[in-house]
Amino acid sequence: MSLVPIRWVSQQECASREEDTAGTPPEASADVSPDVTKPAVKLALLDQRLLPGETREVLLEDARGVATAITDMVVRGAPAIGIAAAYGVALEAFVINREGGDWQSRLASACDVLAASRPTAVNLFWALDRMRKVIAAHATQSQAPYEALLKEAVRIHEQDLEDNLRMAEFGAQVIAASLAQGETRCEVMTHCNTGALATGGHGTALGVIRTAYAQGILGRVHVNETRPWWQGSRLTAWELVQERIPARLAVEGAASLIMQQGARTPEGVRWLIVGADRITANGDTANKIGTFSLAVQARAHGIKVMVVAPLATFDGSLASGADIPIETRDAAELREAGGRQIAPQDIDVFNPVFDVTPHEYIDAIVTEHGVVESPDSDSVGALLGRAMRR
Ligand code: MRU
Repeated sequence: MSLVPIRWVSQQECASREEDTAGTPPEASADVSPDVTKPAVKLALLDQRLLPGETREVLLEDARGVATAITDMVVRGAPAIGIAAAYGVALEAFVINREGGDWQSRLASACDVLAASRPTAVNLFWALDRMRKVIAAHATQSQAPYEALLKEAVRIHEQDLEDNLRMAEFGAQVIAASLAQGETRCEVMTHCNTGALATGGHGTALGVIRTAYAQGILGRVHVNETRPWWQGSRLTAWELVQERIPARLAVEGAASLIMQQGARTPEGVRWLIVGADRITANGDTANKIGTFSLAVQARAHGIKVMVVAPLATFDGSLASGADIPIETRDAAELREAGGRQIAPQDIDVFNPVFDVTPHEYIDAIVTEHGVVESPDSDSVGALLGRAMRR
């Protein structure tokens, strides 16, 4: 079963839906006739907090609702956050045109609300910049440029899928080229969820894994649980099981043991493959908490580290990872799990949800514009320069 994490719900579909706030995704082919008394468009987000047990969509009507959904982890993963925010701006334009008022200031504050939803993934700010450019280009219009904004959101969404497919090919080539003589395939480890759920489709790191498996060069994927939101066990494991890609789940604490065993085994773990939330000008990479420690462990065991991310994840304005804002979340995420208390209520808690892997620990950054090996300021600068000239 392939589920769509972000879906624009047209006026026609809105009018035909009985449930207004949430529900199971409708049949794509449902024959609907519009109810003109309900003029609305909505954004349907697959509620990723409920997976893999339950498949439900949340229906959102305005930018504030989308911002809350991003903060609350209904949708997550850097590219998906950017795509959802772009649709959030288009939704708001629709609402403003229905209600009237100063569209420019209302859209500007909608962009601000969306920008405040999560701090680390730069794709959010990149997508909002693109939407702000569309707003600026229509500044003399009497109405909010709803059609143009929706078109831009769809372009951002579709472009992400195209980029994923390109990165997947490049990443699989890197794996193939790294196989030792006599090896036809290898195992890899991944962290967090970087698949179809976190992107416009296919995935970044998980996209490389999918394509490598399809090419027969990948034996098995080691999936880390990814505390405290379990993106690995709930989402990545689920995506891999759906696609019947051989995978094994373990706690993060087992990573060194798995790498140690794999490094000694023919066709064992050769790559740690992860996504990114922000990559600075020197190649330092923010990603899900635990990535840095996995990269250190990989180095200790002679395992290579691959970061897979589109150019939308690069922040050339920051010289190094020390400048990346790291999101810290509520203490309750560590004190409670599944509605049960799992730590004393009074314990002090530190809950950063990203860390920064220094570029020295990264062997390859795979983008839709090619691969940067042993990234540093020069090679990342050259990549960004090349991409700008295209
Ligand atoms: O907190 P999350 O689930 O949004 O964190 C997601 C990650 O860290 C991913 O690895 C990253 O966004 C890349 S997703 C293609």
